[in-house]
Amino acid sequence: MAANDLFERAHTVMGRAHAPYSRFPVGAAIRTSDGRIYAGCNVEVVSFPEGWCAETTAIGQMVADGGGTIAEIAVVAEKKRLCTPCGGCRQRIAEFGSAATRVHLCDAATGIVETVGLADLLPRSFEAESLG
Ligand code: THU
Repeated sequence: MAANDLFERAHTVMGRAHAPYSRFPVGAAIRTSDGRIYAGCNVEVVSFPEGWCAETTAIGQMVADGGGTIAEIAVVAEKKRLCTPCGGCRQRIAEFGSAATRVHLCDAATGIVETVGLADLLPRSFEAESLG
């Protein structure tokens, strides 16, 4: 699988998740269209709504390093096979991606199992053009 490096990076950072409340560690890894990779894990806070997702951490890393566009992203969760990004993260991925962005859904033990298009995960999304 060509994107197996993304799975490996996502899996590594999943091991560093701060998820003491849900006990649901997640890892994500982005490849930008110019080939850079950024990974992130979920970070929870005792005031529960203040925590954030693995995809959000990875996006923040990319932006802090100069930004870019998301060509593909792998997501892996220790306790859930084929963990799909939450609604908020779908919108965040769309902010830096396109309809062509590929989302790799993984099995923590074996790697990428399924690849879906962002447009399939977030149809009829709210876009900048909507602002007029
Ligand atoms: N979570 C992610 O990090 N990414 C997802 O795609 C789904 C959910 C996190 C948020 C929270 O820390 C934990 O998983 C349980 O919802």
